[in-house]
Amino acid sequence: MRIVGIAGSLRSGSFNAALLRAALEECPPGATLEIESIRGIPLYDGDVEAAQGIPARAAELKDKVAAADALLLVTPEYNNSIPGTFKNAIDWMTRPVADIPRVFKGRPVGLIGASPGNFGTVLSQSAWLPVLRTLGMRPWFGQLLYVGSAGKVFDASGKLTDDAIRQRLRNYMAGFVAFIGGAGTTS
Ligand SMILES: Cc1cc2nc3c(=O)[nH]c(=O)nc-3n(C[C@H](O)[C@H](O)[C@H](O)COP(=O)(O)O)c2cc1C
Repeated sequence: MRIVGIAGSLRSGSFNAALLRAALEECPPGATLEIESIRGIPLYDGDVEAAQGIPARAAELKDKVAAADALLLVTPEYNNSIPGTFKNAIDWMTRPVADIPRVFKGRPVGLIGASPGNFGTVLSQSAWLPVLRTLGMRPWFGQLLYVGSAGKVFDASGKLTDDAIRQRLRNYMAGFVAFIGGAGTTS
């Protein structure tokens, strides 16, 4: 079983990239988690799309997601919503519209995220839901993982040092993998 995980931050010290790496450490046997990022995807421009098609990096990510059994979005929160950078990457991946069924439709998707504040991306995770619905994805709602106070649960190297959060992440990954196994990827 293959999961593609995308962290939605470009920051070298990103808590969300660190959370994705920790998710890899806690991925149960029998499943693989491929770590991906949004780096290299330009701002969406319909003129560029019309003249040149999809940027190579967006096309590459599309193919990786299409070949996987599931997608894990690791989302930061900006102004109580989805960071534009992350949404932009997914927006490019939804082009052309005719490819949405191949890449997204019916595909299981998990949502987790980390922020230094108290609420740990509650609002940005909620903001993703209409997007996932529009794409016909199959979100897993079995557990919620909001990692708040991120500055305290990761060390300076980005390692997850909080045992309680690690246990919750382990449970999340186990539950998500069980869901993927039962859900399949077809619509
Ligand atoms: C423009 C901007 C808006 C932000 N708004 C929020 C917010 O609404 N809620 C929140 O918890 N953190 C907010 N933050 C703080 C981010 O959670 C913090 O920068 C976090 O480290 C970003 O994720 P990253 O570590 O993966 O890059 C904001 C940061 C920026 C740059």
